[in-house]
Amino acid sequence: MTFQEEILRRRTFAIISHPDAGKTTLTEKLLLYGGAIHVAGAVKSNKIRKTATSDWMEIEKQRGISVATSVMGFEYNDYKINILDTPGHQDFAEDTFRTLTAVDSVIIVIDAAKGVETQTRRLMQVCRMRKTPVMVFVNKMDREGKDPFDLLDEIEAELGIHVTPLSWPINSGQRFKGVYNIFQHTLDLYTPDKTHVTESIRYDDVNNPEIDSLVGGQDADKLRQDLELITEVYPEFTVSNTAGYLSGDLAPVFFGSALNTFGVKELLECFVQIAPSPRPVSTEEREVKPEEQQFTGFVFKIHANMDPNHRSCIAFVKICSGKFERNVYYQHVRLNQKMRFSAPTAFMAQKKETVDEAYAGDIIGLPDTGNFKIGDTLTSGEILHFKGLPSFSPEMFKYIENADPMKQKQLDKGVNQLMDEGVAQLFVNQATGRKIIGTVGQLQFEVIQYRLEHEYNARCKWEPLQMYKACWIEPDPDAPAEAAEELRLFKQRKSQYLAFDKEGRDVFLADSAYLLQMAQNDYKHIRFHFTSEF
Ligand code: G4P
Repeated sequence: MTFQEEILRRRTFAIISHPDAGKTTLTEKLLLYGGAIHVAGAVKSNKIRKTATSDWMEIEKQRGISVATSVMGFEYNDYKINILDTPGHQDFAEDTFRTLTAVDSVIIVIDAAKGVETQTRRLMQVCRMRKTPVMVFVNKMDREGKDPFDLLDEIEAELGIHVTPLSWPINSGQRFKGVYNIFQHTLDLYTPDKTHVTESIRYDDVNNPEIDSLVGGQDADKLRQDLELITEVYPEFTVSNTAGYLSGDLAPVFFGSALNTFGVKELLECFVQIAPSPRPVSTEEREVKPEEQQFTGFVFKIHANMDPNHRSCIAFVKICSGKFERNVYYQHVRLNQKMRFSAPTAFMAQKKETVDEAYAGDIIGLPDTGNFKIGDTLTSGEILHFKGLPSFSPEMFKYIENADPMKQKQLDKGVNQLMDEGVAQLFVNQATGRKIIGTVGQLQFEVIQYRLEHEYNARCKWEPLQMYKACWIEPDPDAPAEAAEELRLFKQRKSQYLAFDKEGRDVFLADSAYLLQMAQNDYKHIRFHFTSEF
């Protein structure tokens, strides 16, 4: 296989959902089709049991086990598929945001009864920002669900994306009879069965009376009416016309039941045909194309080893172009240092194994002892800085204080390293110099405190801080003179609300939505952003 073909056959994506919609179940069924596992129930994934939410040690243990399932690679019909797992627990949403920067497309799972839920909405914002192509799988059709047309309306409205159904359900719950697969022109009949693939029968003409005998006259008529409406309302979608999908404007929708392995194969078959192979990636210097011969990649995730005796991590690198080879020297751009890796790992199904080479689109794990931080770039020699790993405004904030005056150095070192790993974000108040840690969930504060103590021999304590959002501020480039003056005034008057982020950028700490609104009204030439890249 040529170098070019290797890259074109790769499909690197993530499945995202609100907890419990069926992400783990769908992942497992995809792996079954890929022959990567042979029995259902084999994927333990990083699903965190709800009962354990207060016990973060337990959660970290589960996350530790899940390193191997962070990336699941498998082969299907000559395609090399890489599924990137995302933590189900919402306190690790930041991890998920970063994982989304390393995928070329996304499948969103939605529970047919619950519709679009909070977590899905938040994750979709990131996809929209990056224009990630999205497919939707409406799951749990074996249960009573919402009306499918209503669901499509909800997805469009809540997720801000156009949709087009590629399969259509015949009832749901007890009366669920299957789907008509618009993409393949087949009638897929439903038999509740957790281990076997259902049969599908090809009908190019939905008026074929055989359909009546299979699903009943009434349901067959309803199906025909629905399909007619679909043709009128939703854009046509074919393999040769995927522009809307690829630009992130249009999401094809499938209906099924992951638990019953129903509709999964159809989803997968459509996915491999339409989902993009690795896409070009922007750097500050230039756009990098996957088929370039020279290797480039960036670190999007660092997984720490929870064993304090081995402060080793795995840095997850997305290969953006070329071919990565074991034991070859590469440029670590930030450190300006050549490095080679004798034990890079690839992730096939649930096994982690040393690899000799990997291609654009693949994810490799590099054992690390503190050389990497999130966003680092590795190249064959060129000086490049990948963009698109923004920080998002945290949801919770606390002052971090030193609880052991003899250990200030240890504390500073620990906090810096944990921030580099992406555990949370550090802000320093510009007026007082006090350090503020921002997270997306309560759990991270406990994680930080524990790890500081056990890995850095430092003790911290938290002080409450009422805060709404951290906003990165920018003078309006269209009115530079007014903006500069406003910014000067703003900084003068709001100095107690200003902080530096880890890169030294100005951040406005708004303690309420009202205060932010006021600031936006009063300072029209300053832009307030909830992410660090704009
Ligand atoms: P998640 O990773 O998105 O959090 O969801 P997961 O796949 O773990 O699924 C959540 C629950 O929904 C599981 O039940 C799972 O069996 C069930 N489920 C997934 N797909 C379907 C489906 O198509 N139909 C129905 N009826 N249920 C589905 P659980 O009882 O929470 O866990 P378990 O004990 O079955 O593992």
